[in-house]
Amino acid sequence: MDATHVPVLPLELLELLRPRPGARFVDGTLGGGGHARMLLEQIQPDGILLGIDRDPEAVERVSRNLSGHGSALRLRCADFAEVKSLLVEEKLVPVDGIVVDLGMSSLQLADPERGFAFSMEGPLDMRYDRSHGSSAADLLGQLSESEIADLIWRYGEERASRRLARRIVQQRRADPLRTTSALARLAERVVPRRRHAGHPATRMFQALRIAVNRELESLERFLEDAPTTLAPGGRLAIISFHSLEDRLVKTCFRNLENDGGHVRITRKVIKAGDREVEQNPRARSARLRVLERAA
Ligand SMILES: C[S@@+](CC[C@H](N)C(=O)[O-])C[C@H]1O[C@@H](n2cnc3c(N)ncnc32)[C@H](O)[C@@H]1O
Repeated sequence: MDATHVPVLPLELLELLRPRPGARFVDGTLGGGGHARMLLEQIQPDGILLGIDRDPEAVERVSRNLSGHGSALRLRCADFAEVKSLLVEEKLVPVDGIVVDLGMSSLQLADPERGFAFSMEGPLDMRYDRSHGSSAADLLGQLSESEIADLIWRYGEERASRRLARRIVQQRRADPLRTTSALARLAERVVPRRRHAGHPATRMFQALRIAVNRELESLERFLEDAPTTLAPGGRLAIISFHSLEDRLVKTCFRNLENDGGHVRITRKVIKAGDREVEQNPRARSARLRVLERAA
């Protein structure tokens, strides 16, 4: 596999996170290491970056590609929901900045074996960490029809959720759904093609990925703890890719500001400019919000 992951909103992140030499930073979603590399370059000399990813392959790749940074880079294969205890273990509290860039990377999407892409034949997996937990195929084999429908509606906002769930349950009686292409073909038969709505399987695949990895639960736990680890003047940047995530971030930042102690640096969400979207189509749906711990 020779894919790359182009980091989104790089200039905006640098401007808003203000990484300085000697600073302590966290990248909670290493992915291809693009944001991590950028931050490491700014915090030298004497800065430290704690890099986290749930995917052991991402951590291994970043460890190889950024090995030149030596002890300035500490790596942990973990859920960013654990950020507080990881920082305590690493004796790095408080920190000057944290970034998370949610969802999956282009590297994960491009690897058919990971099962994130409906356009390529592969096992219906979708776990960031394949060493434990239920895969998408397991969920579709175990849940009841109404649980599947709720999942597709709640995490994918897919209007055909009930019809999809019914067809999945009918099909699994004959033959369990084990591959991405079998599920994509099922969606093509059930979901009406809508203009500008992308492939009929898009929303269901998003829903399954979110459910398999319990993404919203991780984000909620992270939002509770991450702001408390910031130094006065320290900043937290979150890049989300769909309204379910962005809603959680927006509400949390607003509540923290109302409680006092934190200030929203971005009153309105920051989006990528036309030039970036042209060069990196993934940036089209990126939404950046930044919060600062009051001095
Ligand atoms: C969009 S990519 C990050 C790309 C990265 N910013 C870069 O510049 O290359 C998201 C990464 O976050 C990881 N991830 C998703 N949810 C996570 C979580 N709850 N905890 C830790 N890592 C997570 C995924 O495995 C994936 O590698």
